[in-house]
Amino acid sequence: MNRRKTLYRVLALISIGFISYALMKNFLIDPGAHGFLSYKTGLKRELKLPLWLNVMYIHVAFACLAMASGLINFSGRVLEKHRRFHRINGYLYIVSVLIVVITSGYMAPYATGGKISSMGFNLLNIIWPAITLTALIYIRKKQMIKHRNWMIRSYAFCFTNMLIHLIASLFHRGFGFQYPDSYTIGVYGSIALLLIIPEAVIRMIGQPPTHKQSNHPIAKG
Ligand code: HEM
Repeated sequence: MNRRKTLYRVLALISIGFISYALMKNFLIDPGAHGFLSYKTGLKRELKLPLWLNVMYIHVAFACLAMASGLINFSGRVLEKHRRFHRINGYLYIVSVLIVVITSGYMAPYATGGKISSMGFNLLNIIWPAITLTALIYIRKKQMIKHRNWMIRSYAFCFTNMLIHLIASLFHRGFGFQYPDSYTIGVYGSIALLLIIPEAVIRMIGQPPTHKQSNHPIAKG
């Protein structure tokens, strides 16, 4: 099996695993977000719970949709054989990203860890759509490799929540930090990793093989 196929399978495993976990946890196991909300103490603004929860449901649903549609669009088969579907699914991904960012904009001021966490989320609210729109601009200009690379950079941000929780757990359970501080470290740690990891992935997969350059869908840089 070649390197790209292995990478895609690993990505699919992580994405499908995390989508299942996020849907089950937030819609079935703890739909009131009691566990997460218990860490929110000393908020500067009053949190209107029913509204916050509804925004969170929309946020999670579209985050999962972005994760799923992005994953499907990285499939070589979809790209080669179902171009029209790839295009429509691509727009679905962009709309989902925008909805995740808008809902994030509502939740950011109440973020666990206070103002510093809020600032991190607002930074994400600028970076993610900017990267995603860059990918769109490149494909409108028919620059396939650049489009692919910027989509890899964009898709990485679908793992924001997963990474925040992994880093926060490490600092909270592993190193004994207070949960809100661990969460803030999680927000900034994930931003750093989500900017670095895609660069390593782009290097790893490199350019498409030259013998396919004339007909391969991602052959044009
Ligand atoms: C795409 C995958 C994502 C999923 C599955 C997801 C899921 C969630 C969930 C379940 C929550 C509720 C609290 C928690 O359990 O952490 C949440 C909170 C939040 N998410 Fe996301 N999210 C994703 C991506 C993002 C991105 C990319 C941003 C920023 C652009 C973002 C911004 C926020 C904000 C601001 C909160 C509120 C945090 C707080 O109250 O402390 N999320 N997200």
